[in-house]
Amino acid sequence: MSASAVAGVASTAAPVQVVFVIDFGAQYAQLIARRVRELRVYSEIIPHDITADEIAERAPAAIILSGGPKSVHVEGAPRLDPAIYDLGIPILGICYGAQLIPQQLGGVVGRNERGEYGRTVVNRIPGAASALLHAGIPDEQVVWMSHFDAVTEVPEGFTATASAPNAPVAAYENVDKKIYGVQYHPEVVHTPHGMAVLEQFLWREAGCDANWTMGSVIDQSVEAIRAQVGDAKVICALSGGVDSAVAAAMVHKAVGDQLTCIYVDTGLMRLNESDQVVETFEKHQGIELIHVSAGEQYFEKLAGVTDPETKRKIIGELFIRIFEKFARGLDDAKFLVQGTLYPDVIESGTKDAAKIKSHHNVGGLPDDLDFDLVEPLRNLFKDEVRKVGSELGLPDEIVLRQPFPGPGLGVRIIGEVTEEKVTILQHADAIVREEVGAAGLERELWQSFAVLADIRTVGVMGDERTYAHPIIIRAVNSDDAMTADWARLPYDLLERMSNRIINEVDGVNRVAYDITSKPPGTIEWE
Ligand code: XMP
Repeated sequence: MSASAVAGVASTAAPVQVVFVIDFGAQYAQLIARRVRELRVYSEIIPHDITADEIAERAPAAIILSGGPKSVHVEGAPRLDPAIYDLGIPILGICYGAQLIPQQLGGVVGRNERGEYGRTVVNRIPGAASALLHAGIPDEQVVWMSHFDAVTEVPEGFTATASAPNAPVAAYENVDKKIYGVQYHPEVVHTPHGMAVLEQFLWREAGCDANWTMGSVIDQSVEAIRAQVGDAKVICALSGGVDSAVAAAMVHKAVGDQLTCIYVDTGLMRLNESDQVVETFEKHQGIELIHVSAGEQYFEKLAGVTDPETKRKIIGELFIRIFEKFARGLDDAKFLVQGTLYPDVIESGTKDAAKIKSHHNVGGLPDDLDFDLVEPLRNLFKDEVRKVGSELGLPDEIVLRQPFPGPGLGVRIIGEVTEEKVTILQHADAIVREEVGAAGLERELWQSFAVLADIRTVGVMGDERTYAHPIIIRAVNSDDAMTADWARLPYDLLERMSNRIINEVDGVNRVAYDITSKPPGTIEWE
């Protein structure tokens, strides 16, 4: 079997109790799934075409129907297999989900003249007792809504429990059938009592146990990895990044010396980064580590290359060749660890969940390299991975670090990459990181780093004319790297960074600050 096929993903066995979040196409499904997990109940995002039989087979403790961009009235609007409503599993519909339930069960969804977008107020309907909107939630509450259609009549057996200016039925329930709906979004922070609604639904109405903790994640994963791997050898490519680090630490906890990590130092890492990787994994975690110093090979291959995509390709391919060579040396290794995360699994479609991240460094291994994959993080969101990493004893510098691109400083040196330029950039970048850290902004910023441009500009230092490189400082705020805004760093911080870079780094005589957002810019310069 090749590395691109998956024999078993037992290392990620789901916990016994699971809540299904049925995805109707809104970006809110992920947020709902995360909120459920914050309430210490494990959740999974499931496509809306799942059948009642498939659901019954996995017997989730509860089902939440997400919002969605369509109107329930349009042709082709996503529906739910109606037999799901008869399974006796507690169901909470949110927004689109809250309209779909009455539409499928005999209520009426009106086509409103005016929708409601953003902050609004819902009121409990006088005299209507509500199990969902329990005593801790005020009769009048501020919520966040985004809808056009609205439920106007609930199906037989259901009770309307709250209303809003443009939603006569803003909440409803059928306690006997354990089916509930809220037109507003309890999962967003702009609905202050939203978590109380989710708590009430999950913990009380659905009787979920709040026992999904990072400790339980580790216990389950360790057990599943042992069951999958047996006494075979496992290898893992460490990049220094969070995902591979946590995956390696988890597998090591499960199978100890059966794991060997391969760390390829491309020479394009940040200042002291390779030492930190060796220190953390070899010394502190006691993991068997093959440390390959490959800088010279990289500089040789990159000589004279200026095109960004060619550089990326050369860096990626050389990594694979080096990794392959050392992996072949461990000829009894049967498993390969991958730091695949839940968003990658969702993106590649839950039915095609085995697909490897396309940008993952070891995705291009030759077919005859015969590995099965161990993916201990494939059920986890990034923030959960960080928590698991801390719980496994990894230092903050690794688990809380900002994203760093696979090709490293190679894509932060514009134009040809040389050892000399890497040295300049490493020192300038270290100053940016030190100063951002000293200002307490490292965790607040999505990324902050230095870029070295392949040009030289004129300057004057002392009485001497200089002709040297500029350094560009880049700092951005972002939630997911898809869009980003340039960070409004304090002027005195920019000044300190500029002074220090020019005074302390040979070969630099000018510092610029990049004030481009994404789009139209990208976060990296190449
Ligand atoms: P851009 O520059 O496209 O970057 O706005 C978005 C995010 O992806 C990171 N990045 C990469 N990560 N290999 C990686 O592993 C790459 O080739 C690569 N290019 C960009 C970038 O740092 C940012 O977080």
